[in-house]
Amino acid sequence: MVMAEGLFLVGTARGVGKTLIGVGIVALLREMGVDATMMTPISTGDSGKNAASLLREIGVEAPRRLVMPITFETPAAPYVASRIERKPIHLRKVLDAYHELREQGKFVVVEGGGVLVPIARRYDVIDLLKDFELPSIIVGRTGRGTLNHCILTLRMLLVMGVQPLGFVLNGYGQYGDGFAESLNPEALRELAAPTPVLATQEWRPEYQEDLPAFIRALRQQPDLMAMLRRLTETGSAETRASGTPVTPDAGGE
Ligand SMILES: Nc1ncnc2c1ncn2[C@@H]1O[C@H](COP(=O)(O)OP(=O)(O)O)[C@@H](O)[C@H]1O
Ligand SMILES: [Mg+2]
Repeated sequence: MVMAEGLFLVGTARGVGKTLIGVGIVALLREMGVDATMMTPISTGDSGKNAASLLREIGVEAPRRLVMPITFETPAAPYVASRIERKPIHLRKVLDAYHELREQGKFVVVEGGGVLVPIARRYDVIDLLKDFELPSIIVGRTGRGTLNHCILTLRMLLVMGVQPLGFVLNGYGQYGDGFAESLNPEALRELAAPTPVLATQEWRPEYQEDLPAFIRALRQQPDLMAMLRRLTETGSAETRASGTPVTPDAGGE
């Protein structure tokens, strides 16, 4: 029995904070003594700091070749960006980068995307998740519309045979949705059960410049911290199994 090899982040929409949450998780894991790093398999033109620069901010060496193996300037889904730039996506490159990080003994937080974001024809983010065979978490928002996005994402993962470890809700307060927003984390907890809501992280513009403050806030989330501890404990076969594809005959060896 060994600790999980990494964690795959699924987003409910673009800009939900996957990169920031991912780097925050890397920082928390490193505090627990785990040699964690992160990769964005396919990054497309976007605002916000990328994984490589945020990793450097927390003192993690981040060769772009491994952290961001495939990049497009075009702000679009990988499939679309790849067509516009006439540059095919070689998945081999992504998997080689991942395996190189694994060979260095790293725990790899993988920044995926929305479940059905197309990467190539008949190959979506969900297929990437299945190829990585990692436990997953869903990063979503708290504001209006999120229950639909979160439950759609969860249902789709379940249909595809993947039970995620839980949700991290990010950006609480961003849209000033007030009362409804304040009830959403609890509503999701109830509606998505037994899949847990692991954290609700506030929206604070200062987090965009102050990564340590963002990490401090994330550290205050007991369920997230407990999940990360379980994930990295040796003998976490249970966690591992719940994050990987469930098939009727799983584990019958
Ligand atoms: N909780 C938060 N409070 C303030 N700003 C945030 C928060 N979460 C994310 N952001 C900002 O929102 C933008 C999108 O976040 P990012 O992590 O790049 O999302 P994604 O990777 O899902 O596209 C970034 O500029 C980031 O700094
Ligand atoms: Mg990102």
